[in-house]
Amino acid sequence: MRDVEMRQLFDEDPNRFKKFSIQSNPVLVDFSKNRVIEQTLSLLFNLAKAAEVEKWRDKMFAGEIVNSTEQRSALHTALRSPVHTHVSKEIDTELASMERLCNKLHHGKWLSYKDTPIKDIVVIGIGGSYLGPKLASEALTHFTQKGIKIHFVANVDAHLLDEVLKDIAPEDTLFVVVSKSFSTQETTANAETAAAWLREKSGIRRSVHKQFVAITSNAEAAKSFGIDSDHILNMWDWVGGRYSLWSTVGFPLALQIGMQNFRSLLTGAYTMDKHFQTAPLDKNLPVIMGLLGVWYINFLGMPHHAVLPYDHRLRSLPSYLQQLDMESNGKGVTRDGKRANYNTGPIIFGDAGTNGQHSFHQLLHQGALTVPCDFIGFSKAEHDHKNHHEILLSNMLAQSQAMMMGRSRKETIELLASYNITGKMVKDLSLHMTFPGNRPSNTIMCESLTPATLGALLALYEHKVFVQGIIWNINSFDQMGVELGKTLTSKILPAMQSDKELSSADCSTQALLDYIRKNS
Ligand code: F6P
Repeated sequence: MRDVEMRQLFDEDPNRFKKFSIQSNPVLVDFSKNRVIEQTLSLLFNLAKAAEVEKWRDKMFAGEIVNSTEQRSALHTALRSPVHTHVSKEIDTELASMERLCNKLHHGKWLSYKDTPIKDIVVIGIGGSYLGPKLASEALTHFTQKGIKIHFVANVDAHLLDEVLKDIAPEDTLFVVVSKSFSTQETTANAETAAAWLREKSGIRRSVHKQFVAITSNAEAAKSFGIDSDHILNMWDWVGGRYSLWSTVGFPLALQIGMQNFRSLLTGAYTMDKHFQTAPLDKNLPVIMGLLGVWYINFLGMPHHAVLPYDHRLRSLPSYLQQLDMESNGKGVTRDGKRANYNTGPIIFGDAGTNGQHSFHQLLHQGALTVPCDFIGFSKAEHDHKNHHEILLSNMLAQSQAMMMGRSRKETIELLASYNITGKMVKDLSLHMTFPGNRPSNTIMCESLTPATLGALLALYEHKVFVQGIIWNINSFDQMGVELGKTLTSKILPAMQSDKELSSADCSTQALLDYIRKNS
């Protein structure tokens, strides 16, 4: 397949789109612009069978321990399932608490220390306790309840917190601290500074009690922080941070869009869960997308993947998928404790179209690396500027077409001739202006961006990542790679805050620390 040209495959088979696209409502995935033929896919399905993808999928849905290193199940699918499971009761309790708190705020009954109703929500959290709610909040901005404004603070860099605090009034604001552990350094630092700000501005020590909510599995830490136990929503150890949007982590989103819309998000994700559980492998979208990724990474040597949503509202999707994919499958040791002697998770990057076209798409079209892409678009827009939407989607179709077809040297020479460019100029320019093409992409389309379509789309990617993790025989549900940096920070920080030498520092780290001390 290395030498097979997709362009030729399309010429030979006018039914290629029909054969290589699947609609599972509300999502249509066109995977015809990939370097595969039916035989390729059938061999890849054999690989999925050999890796027992279906068996592992059923184990995950049944709540068996699939996170072997932490001895946990991964039950994010139970959070959106109407079917009764052994955790349904706990989920219903938290959904009821979310509903109660949402109603209190939406009915203007959540009052500040000045007895004024809350209008601004500041969400403090990082990683999985931030990326999902932030993405969904931007994506579903059209569903925002009247009068509510939401702000996100993730980075410990206080330039951000300062900016947000400047934008809000203490008597308007509810702070929602999202942290499964309630010990993440960035989140606790931001939460403490925000609490100190609220106390100072209000002159009331207990203002935190009224105007802070915690989403956590460490209720004790939240209580010691000063948060009212009525304002603490529970998170469970069977939900990983990056899979947690569907849990109480979605509470700020529910405040923004209302509980009914939040429930539609869950229903949309459930639709994709059902599809993943019941569709045969050769009709199963997460399986197909997962296998195509494996095909490029392990067979054709393409370890990158670009995510290109042609919708401004999904501008944070690449960052969300970076965590989902790279924190899940960025592992080099197999489930049975051996070093993997093959590549695993890809490098994910991307941006909203058409912005990327004016920057990194150059590499996607003509770079020495070939980068498989996902284009994502919605046929309907939520604004009245029809021509903008037509321009946007035409660009999306043109990009995937250009990547697939390219423009041969011969076609380029003909084009130059049509501009009356001849002789040496043609020789000089034609190769630079040639597009190699044969660059693979999926195009994912939905009718409009709603809570339900967003739910289905994110669940599609969750399961794609799961399928790949099973094929690579790695545990997609732990994240031990984030620990070493945290440990070293805890050694460097005390040195930064004093004049002491760093014990056991390399000369580079020591010199950089000295530079900071000298110039701060
Ligand atoms: O450092 C990585 C990580 O553990 C993520 O997996 C997690 O989503 C994030 O930090 C935030 O953790 P917490 O919700 O405990 O603050």
